[in-house]
Amino acid sequence: MKQFVVFLYFLIHCEAVLNDRPIIGVLSQELTDMIADNYGDNYVSYIAASYIKHLESAGARVVPVWINQTSEYYEYIVNSVNGLVIPGGAAPFNASDGYATAGKELYNLAKQKNEEGVNFPVLGVCLGFELLAVLSADEYDLRSICDIQNVALPLNFSSDYKSSRMYKDASDEMVKIMQTENVTINFHHWCITDNDLAEGNVSDQWHVLSYSEYNGTKFVSSFEHTEYPFYGYQFHPEKNTFEWKITNNNPHTANAVLVEQYYGSFIVNEARKNNNSFPNFNQEMEALIYNYSTSYTTHNTPFEQIYFFPRTRSNLQVYNYHNYHSSNNYYN
Ligand SMILES: *[C@@H]1O[C@H](CO)[C@@H](O)[C@H](O)[C@H]1NC(C)=O
Ligand SMILES: *[C@@H]1O[C@H](CO)[C@@H](O)[C@H](O)[C@H]1NC(C)=O
Ligand SMILES: *[C@@H]1O[C@H](CO)[C@@H](O)[C@H](O)[C@H]1NC(C)=O
Ligand SMILES: *[C@@H]1O[C@H](CO)[C@@H](O)[C@H](O)[C@H]1NC(C)=O
Ligand SMILES: *[C@@H]1O[C@H](CO)[C@@H](O)[C@H](O)[C@H]1NC(C)=O
Ligand SMILES: *[C@@H]1O[C@H](CO)[C@@H](O)[C@H](O)[C@H]1NC(C)=O
Ligand SMILES: *[C@@H]1O[C@H](CO)[C@@H](O)[C@H](O)[C@H]1NC(C)=O
Ligand SMILES: *[C@@H]1O[C@H](CO)[C@@H](O)[C@H](O)[C@H]1NC(C)=O
Repeated sequence: MKQFVVFLYFLIHCEAVLNDRPIIGVLSQELTDMIADNYGDNYVSYIAASYIKHLESAGARVVPVWINQTSEYYEYIVNSVNGLVIPGGAAPFNASDGYATAGKELYNLAKQKNEEGVNFPVLGVCLGFELLAVLSADEYDLRSICDIQNVALPLNFSSDYKSSRMYKDASDEMVKIMQTENVTINFHHWCITDNDLAEGNVSDQWHVLSYSEYNGTKFVSSFEHTEYPFYGYQFHPEKNTFEWKITNNNPHTANAVLVEQYYGSFIVNEARKNNNSFPNFNQEMEALIYNYSTSYTTHNTPFEQIYFFPRTRSNLQVYNYHNYHSSNNYYN
């Protein structure tokens, strides 16, 4: 009887306590030729600051994840942060020392973590969304060319989107905004269609949650993985609030800002379900983006501000995660 009561107690109280100090890793990427023309003398990689602000304003801290590093480093990152964002951009998928190679390594580590029972969320935005799809197909490049640039569109939800993790908590009001207003901005050379997923043999891996349609092309605009907490969208919610390039059609209505906040809260809340931490407080401080400053780049890039990174990390040590307890809690 007593055991039964204890069992009932655990059934009722089994919800894990959420992590209210989430830290999200954001992958950097190699400079485009255009950015390198202006900033290539001192830097080799960057993150658009809008991604950082998007996550910070939803209650997370951010750690920049460097490209072209050792496996030990990526392992350290995946064991220390509470989730990963692979942002959009213009990096090639075939370079051996850049975004795609680092993304692949992180994707495999994230899969492994989840298989070990650790909830480790990964979000891909635009090019990052495409990379997730390609990596899920063992690097078969399933994308089709569509070139939809600078176009804000609504989402057309798939019939069972309400049963998804990404949208189950969306209010009717939010769904209506996303469905009827041009609140998702598109900048992509490639699309992923139902046919592309089928051709890559990954239709069963991705639950397609919405489509968007433009100039006769209907493409997947958001999806989530059927097995892992992996998410992707083809559009850029972060630009609604944080990118103001005058020649871009980034939507800035009050509802567009609510949409940005919806997606930011979604991924940060996913990271709250993860309990990873850095080995100690100093390591955490060293890794955080607070130790980097932004450059004002509005005149020669599509971004208001960018975080740039040099080739070598002067300030980050990599600890072998096997050498410390994953359950340490240095806040107590
Ligand atoms: C994190 O760890 C604490 C202490 O062990 C535990 O109470 C909590 O449920 C864990 N939370 C998650 C999200 O795993
Ligand atoms: C990657 O690192 C190698 C050597 O460490 C260097 O030669 C190469 O230029 C680096 N590539 C990038 C994109 O930083
Ligand atoms: C990557 O692909 C592009 C375009 O398909 C090609 O121009 C480039 O040479 C390739 N780079 C490498 C390193 O294979
Ligand atoms: C949404 O998709 C459905 C099914 O594909 C289609 O019948 C409908 O016309 C689409 N709605 C809009 C607004 O594009
Ligand atoms: C949304 O944008 C599309 C493409 O530019 C346009 O055809 C459509 O009229 C717009 N819809 C609304 C509600 O503004
Ligand atoms: C998909 O599966 C089919 C049938 O097994 C196979 O012929 C094809 O090569 C696979 N495609 C990819 C991209 O793996
Ligand atoms: C629409 O698609 C056609 C080809 O399918 C292309 O020639 C045209 O430039 C596209 N228009 C826009 C506005 O993207
Ligand atoms: C910030 O980075 C510098 C080197 O760039 C390093 O010396 C310093 O210790 C770092 N600050 C913290 C709090 O880790």
